[in-house]
Amino acid sequence: MSDSITSMLQENRLFEPSEHFRTHIGPIAVPDLKTYHEMYRKSIDDPGGFWGEIAKDFDWYQPWEKVVEWNLPDAKWFVGGTTNVCANCVDRQIKRGHGDELAILWEGEPCSPDPEIRRLTYLDLLREVSQTANALKSMGVKRGDVVTIYMGMVPELAIAMLACARIGAPHSVIFGGFASPAIVDRVQDAQSKIIITCDGSWRRGQIVALKKNVDDACEKLPEVKNVLVVRRTQSPITMHAGRDHWWHDLVPTQSPECPCEEMNSEDLLFLLYTSGSTGKPKGICHTTAGYMIYTAQTARVTFNLVPKHNHVFFCTADIGWITGHSYIVYGMLPNRVPTIMYEGAPNFPAEDRFWSMVARHKVTHFYTAPTAIRAFMKWGDEHPRKHDLSSLLLLGTVGEPINPEAWIWYHQNIGQSRCPIVDTMWQTETGGHIITPLPGCTPTVPGSCTLPAFGIDAAVVNEKGEELPANHGGLLVIRRPWPGMLRGIHGDRARFIETYWTKVPGMYIAGDGARRDERGYFWIMGRIDDVINVSGHRLGTMEVESALVSHPAVVEAAVVGIPHEIKGTGIAAFVTLSPHFKGATDDSLRKQLMEHVTKEIGPIARPDMIRFTMLLPKTRSGKIMRRLLRDIAVGKESTQDTTTLEDFNALAKLRESDE
Ligand code: WTA
Repeated sequence: MSDSITSMLQENRLFEPSEHFRTHIGPIAVPDLKTYHEMYRKSIDDPGGFWGEIAKDFDWYQPWEKVVEWNLPDAKWFVGGTTNVCANCVDRQIKRGHGDELAILWEGEPCSPDPEIRRLTYLDLLREVSQTANALKSMGVKRGDVVTIYMGMVPELAIAMLACARIGAPHSVIFGGFASPAIVDRVQDAQSKIIITCDGSWRRGQIVALKKNVDDACEKLPEVKNVLVVRRTQSPITMHAGRDHWWHDLVPTQSPECPCEEMNSEDLLFLLYTSGSTGKPKGICHTTAGYMIYTAQTARVTFNLVPKHNHVFFCTADIGWITGHSYIVYGMLPNRVPTIMYEGAPNFPAEDRFWSMVARHKVTHFYTAPTAIRAFMKWGDEHPRKHDLSSLLLLGTVGEPINPEAWIWYHQNIGQSRCPIVDTMWQTETGGHIITPLPGCTPTVPGSCTLPAFGIDAAVVNEKGEELPANHGGLLVIRRPWPGMLRGIHGDRARFIETYWTKVPGMYIAGDGARRDERGYFWIMGRIDDVINVSGHRLGTMEVESALVSHPAVVEAAVVGIPHEIKGTGIAAFVTLSPHFKGATDDSLRKQLMEHVTKEIGPIARPDMIRFTMLLPKTRSGKIMRRLLRDIAVGKESTQDTTTLEDFNALAKLRESDE
């Protein structure tokens, strides 16, 4: 991390908005910086006026009485209003005569020379979503019941989410790459009684055994009464009579009519579990109107979406993460721009998968993560060069700080030096973008996410909440509420306050270090807590530690993030073995432990390096000295003051074991 910060500090190249973009994108949402600053001021000084104007563009049953009511940490948006998110994504477009337009374009993992493609119009969506909603009702799902969704990237995933929104049943989507213990924790915490899944999903020609993972989880989840299963891979699975139902049996026989529930603005739309410093993943709560309006508005402005301008939006995220929720589904459909969902992996059947998709579908907007860009760089320039990328107008990145080298490569090789890049900074908790350039408007500097989004009173402060001068690193905070902000952690008010609102009283703390340069641009310097960003996926070091100590050979474990060429951050684990464990402290045990973590959490949590040690360095109060371990993991002489080390021996032993 520190290496990339240094290189960022020296970064000074400025990229003005390209003429090509300005002439091809359609009307520019925010045409210049002067307009941005005026709009931004208004959004901060008069949030009611600003967001009220935007909200008028959505369909409501009852108009709101008050745009915002706040007493931080609590805020309510569009108070007294009633609406439905599914109605604004789907029915609204049909009512306005656009039912036959493309809503979702899905491409399956190619198993034969030609990829499988499905195109869903808004009318198709309405029918499938309504039937799915009726199927959920037939299984007893009522307004307010949490529906767990653990699926691969198939169209039924988006359909299931919209069906939940239609009937007012909050969904909780679990990333399909997580293992069965992750399902158990999340289903229990959400008190969910139903799971929607697939028999399996395709990834690099292999089948991910989703249904098997659900079956294993259900052994510990007697409360789960129904499992709805989409057939995707035709793999042999066991269907449990009375509990399991095939989607293709239950859904198509339902009526295609299902009225939308009239939801209050602040009714829960979904839970999405994400990692924090301590404890198990927390269920971030997003509510109806604020989230809907914030994601649709940020999508429209950050990506300059214009219906009927041949825009095709391709976000490569998995819907199991917030990026997919907000910028594949909920932010896109209200904007009436086709959104792509893809199944599989970026390098299967070959490393040019994305570029062949861009050419095949004439993608105009491409949104991915820095870790993917670093992989593209490694795979070689020849892959994008093989394809016609001339349809591209705009590129985006998200998930972690982007190193300037990757930014420049992306700009030249994918954007062919004509596409602006929007480096969008945000979090599961923020619902949508909080700091980002606006294309055609904000000059960009590689590595900086530039300026705050409308309504985001972002600042870099010290622990007293005092704003720091230019180029001083500090804490990234948001000082006022915004419509897309989380409303809580499911079932844990104390943790909500403690995590986000206590460190700097009265301000939302993002958990990231940042600085602002003399231009006012933000530079994110990475997490300041024990969250690590592995390939843009958020993990708590503690989750990996708990997985390790659940292995019989391990008594104690400490996990730290280390710089990784492709992943951004890799995982280094220091492990103390039980004296009773008879076995070699060798590669085979290392492999076993890696497999164990994969089984407990999922492949993304697999450590890159495991080091065995007799003792872990701790402070007198018993805290593991992570920074020291990080230095050891990257082979650096520690510059840290080690006088608080409880046992100098531990350090000496760790160093000795340095091969
Ligand atoms: C990091 C993903 C720098 C940051 C949408 C944040 C970024 C965490 C950027 C949230 C960016 C995300 N530049 N860092 N453009 N985007 N991050 O909840 O550390 O999975 O706090 O949301 O990712 O991760 P999450």
